[in-house]
Amino acid sequence: MMGLMTQRPDTSSAWIVTIDGPAASGKSSVARRVAEALGIPYVSSGLLYRAATYLVLREKVPADDEAAVMALLSRHRLRLEPDNRVWCNDQEISAALHTDTIDAAVSAVSRHPSVRRWAYDLLRELRGPFVIDGRDMGTVAFPDATHKFYLTASAEARAQRRRPERNGSLREVIAALERRDALDHKQLSPAPDACQVDTTALTLDEVVAKVLLYLRSR
Ligand code: DC
Repeated sequence: MMGLMTQRPDTSSAWIVTIDGPAASGKSSVARRVAEALGIPYVSSGLLYRAATYLVLREKVPADDEAAVMALLSRHRLRLEPDNRVWCNDQEISAALHTDTIDAAVSAVSRHPSVRRWAYDLLRELRGPFVIDGRDMGTVAFPDATHKFYLTASAEARAQRRRPERNGSLREVIAALERRDALDHKQLSPAPDACQVDTTALTLDEVVAKVLLYLRSR
């Protein structure tokens, strides 16, 4: 078993694993651990939408004005490195991107088609191999990805996981997640060729083990 868990499949620069799912479904923890086990980078695609939202809030641009948001993005150079550090021009902004304020505003920015195209272009510049998480990595950004996963979990299980990182009661965290799910729903559907995993009753270790076993068996 141990050999199976540490052995890396034959990866090349075209080798991409996508892990999609709703907020707090465990994608980022799973993607990070799977990437570590395989010895390849983990990329969080949501960071680009968070970085765009950070700029929108900082520059007080109306988030629902697609043209104004795109004009803002063209005036600044946002960069995502394969180690998940994010830069705005020459300033690192990674530490400012996981806040309640950005959580609440990010869907309004990420729903614009031109913002999504901007993000896909930046993501497709990254060289594989890598594991990437998001909402539509397997459906739109990397339809030819080598392996695709789609994680789900009940709203309550997701809120319990998210709560230590956010303010508010369990009910408030569930309500905030459900609001974001409703706003993100357009991007949220499993690729037809994705392996779906319901993580509600599974520990992180169990989900990681499932994903790695699936990858080794292909
Ligand atoms: O994965 P995350 O919570 O960091 O993502 C932040 C927001 O960005 C999320 O509310 C929806 C959006 N997002 C998206 O629309 N498509 C992606 N591939 C990743 C994130």
